[in-house]
Amino acid sequence: MTDPIVYLNGQFLPLGEAKVSVLDRGFLFGDGVYEVIPVYGGKPFRLAEHLQRLDNSLAGIRMTSPLTAEQWSDLFDRLIRGDHDQSIYLQITRGAAPKRDHAFPKETPPTVFAMCNPIAPIPASGVRAITVQDIRWDWCHIKAVTLLANVLLRQQAVEQGCAEAILVRDGQAIEGAASNLFVVVDGILVTPPKGNRILPGITRDLVVELAQANAVPCQERDIAAEELSRAAEVWVTSSTREILPIVELDGRTVGNGSPGPVWARMNRLYQEFKETLRRGG
Ligand code: PDD
Repeated sequence: MTDPIVYLNGQFLPLGEAKVSVLDRGFLFGDGVYEVIPVYGGKPFRLAEHLQRLDNSLAGIRMTSPLTAEQWSDLFDRLIRGDHDQSIYLQITRGAAPKRDHAFPKETPPTVFAMCNPIAPIPASGVRAITVQDIRWDWCHIKAVTLLANVLLRQQAVEQGCAEAILVRDGQAIEGAASNLFVVVDGILVTPPKGNRILPGITRDLVVELAQANAVPCQERDIAAEELSRAAEVWVTSSTREILPIVELDGRTVGNGSPGPVWARMNRLYQEFKETLRRGG
């Protein structure tokens, strides 16, 4: 396979030739933010929303976007190849300063990196998950590259034969290690409200929007960890996993062990929405 073309600091070049300094603050401190944007039919999905979240993440770490929305869009168009489902990964760090110092450097340009990868097929039969204690920091609304806690928690899940870890903080089920959380309790679709404990997922927002537009009862409220065991359905959502049903949680079957009817309905609405984009709508 040929090396894909990626973007690094103003240049388009083969992945193998894209190199950053060992003094880059992303490498030394995890001092940066990122975005993952799905691409359907060759077009970035919900681009304006992803770019708005990028601006919010940058503001959260006291940086500003190095490119305009139009420049981002042009850049992404140059990375997208073909019309299969793909995702753009974009990372911006506070750059490579001449010496290692925790405080912000002066006049150091940011490092900007972007690449486009195929999205792996999503297992429609559902996956297994575990609950774990949320050991992350207090600013989970910022899409920071500092992902060590998420990495450790996801690995814990993988080592138990599971696809995701559901994070529990102060007795509340918060979100997944790299996804947002939905449950169906008493016939109502529930997802935790936005705030600094969760990443404001673009997929999450679309699911809430589609539920509201199609009269699917939906609430944004805290989910007590105990509710997970009596939920008829549990799903996680993300740009690369869409709406993914959890059919076994902590070794217990969720519902009847297969993706539930509310998932089937919302997934159909989501796939139809994607199709309108593919057709250029
Ligand atoms: N992660 N919560 C966390 C902690 C996440 O890392 C993600 C996505 C989400 C879902 O957000 P969205 O629907 O906008 O993808 C929620 C990406 C996919 C990742 O880190 O690869």
